[in-house]
Formats: sequence, C-alpha cells, structure tokens
Amino acid sequence: MSLLEMTGSLKGRDFLSLKDYTSEEIVFLLDFADYLKGKVKKGEPHELLKGKTLGLIFQKSSTRTRVSFEVGMIQLGGYPLFLSATDLQMGRGEPIRDTARVLSRYLDGVMIRTYSHDDVEELATYASIPIINGLTDALHPCQVLADLQTIREHKGHNLKGVKLAYIGDGNNMAHSLMIGGAKMGMEIVIASPGGYEPEENWVQVAKSIAKDTGGKIIVTPDIDVASSQADVLYADVWASMGQEEEMSERKKHLSQYQINEELLKKAAKDVIVMHCLPAHRGEEITEDVIEGKHSVVFDEAEDRLHAQKAILANLL
Ligand code: CP
Ligand code: NVA
Repeated sequence: MSLLEMTGSLKGRDFLSLKDYTSEEIVFLLDFADYLKGKVKKGEPHELLKGKTLGLIFQKSSTRTRVSFEVGMIQLGGYPLFLSATDLQMGRGEPIRDTARVLSRYLDGVMIRTYSHDDVEELATYASIPIINGLTDALHPCQVLADLQTIREHKGHNLKGVKLAYIGDGNNMAHSLMIGGAKMGMEIVIASPGGYEPEENWVQVAKSIAKDTGGKIIVTPDIDVASSQADVLYADVWASMGQEEEMSERKKHLSQYQINEELLKKAAKDVIVMHCLPAHRGEEITEDVIEGKHSVVFDEAEDRLHAQKAILANLL
C-alpha cells in the first residue's frame, strides 16, 4: 500500500506502546515521518491538522518532548495547549477518569508525560480521543519511533539483524528499545548490572514479538558481549526522572556501564552512538564520544519532531 492509501488507517488509535502497533504500521509511520521531514526541509506547507487541538499534560520536566510536540502541532496547522499537571485539577486529586472524559469534549488528542504507566492506560480507557504516551516510568515509545527513523537514516531501511547495544539502567528506554527493536527484527542487547536489569514482563513482551519477526532480545551484565560488533550503541542516564535521590547508590553499581572510547573499539567500525538526552557527560557517556564522529544524538533529537508529527497526522 502507498503512503496515501494507508493514511487514515490509524485514525482514532492511542499511542501508548509500540507493542500495540504491527511491524507494518511502524514502518508506515517511519515512512510518513520521512515524508514530513522532506516537507520541512523543502519548506513546503503540510497543514494536515488544520483547526485541531492537542493537549500536552506534563507531570515531569521536558525539553525535547514539549518543544517538538508544540512545534509539530503548529507546523501541521493545529494548536497545542501546554497543561502543567500542577495547574490542572488533576494535580489536586480530580480523578483521571473524569479528566479524560472532560478533555475529550474539548480536544482532538492528548499527550501525557507522567510517572505511572497505569495512569496513562486509565486515561486512554476513559478518553474518546487518541492518547499519546510522552514517557512513563515504564515506556518512552515516541522516543523509540524517532530512534528507529534515525537508525534507518544511518543504517538503511531494512533494520532486520541490525544490532543495538543499550548500556546502562534497565529503564523505560531499555523497555521501549526492546519492544520497538523486536518489531523491526533487530538484535537488541541490554547490558545492565544486577539489580538494574529491565523488568521481566517487558523482556517477555519483547521476546514474544521477536519470535514472530526474527528479532533477538538479550539481557546480560556483560558490556563487552553487548558492544561486540554492535551497529548502534545506546546510552541513557543512570538515574531517571523521579530517581534523583538514588543517584549516589546508582553510581556505585552503574559506573562501569559507560559508553567511552574503549567500548567504541569493540563495536562495528561504522557504529553510531545514540542517547535520548538529556546526557550526563562523564557518567553514562564520555564527552569525547558524545561529541565524536560516531555520535548522531542531534539527528536523533531532530527526528522527535518528524516522528511525532507522523503520529499526530495519522491518529488525529
Ligand atoms: N528525550 C526526551 O524525551 O527528552 P525530554 O525529557 O527533554 O523531553
Ligand atoms: N530514562 C530517562 C529518559 C529521559 C528522556 C527518564 O525517564 O528520565
């Protein structure tokens, strides 16, 4: 099916996890993101969401997610509304299910960034408009859709067998990379120390997807095994938002889980280095690697805009 023939097929859907999308639907979103990126580069108008409104609920900080969703919505001809969770009645205890039904009467879609993944599921259950997960403690699917776009740009469109090694805390990024990578038939190796492995239920979700796609999911404490001949090396912070107080304890366990020049030597010659950002130089990644010639972190950050516009244009 062509891009335009498939347009409309995702209308009304939520975007809570890439597990809810088929491999074909993800490829379609990636192709659509490339198409929209082309429009931006050529300066051609693409107002596919004229008059539509998107609410953006943030219970945690954000630079990329907030700005790319706001700008993306405006480029599509729509209107974004930033809704700080502390200013919403939700912050004073109004039930999520009431908020969901009220916002559904005003808006065409909602993006939410919060702590509990269950809260996002509840919002989606009670809302009659698309709900987009802008990061929870469990998952960060918008980031991974953009990551797949960036990996395709650097490694070619067929991602089957591409090896991505994620080094560090088995967090929301690790979970979403396993799921998104499995959908694409990639080999995803998560290297985390004992006690900081990805949650078993998400590992099982990814493994069962990989069974169908020919992908591979490996969890190991061994950073050398993980990075050996890797096509992509991926880092994220040792302490995620909400875990700041655990930082000194985490540093003790995660200090070896760093992407540095030594580790780079073990990877494929043309390895690309990725990081969802914000980065802590000298912790999960060194200054010379993030600023070095293998790093694609700013392409990756840019693709948040294009990938999310593909989500918005199709779901709204
Ligand atoms: N990568 C990412 O989601 O960045 P922000 O926290 O700045 O949105
Ligand atoms: N794991 C990080 C990702 C930030 C984009 C966090 O949740 O803080």
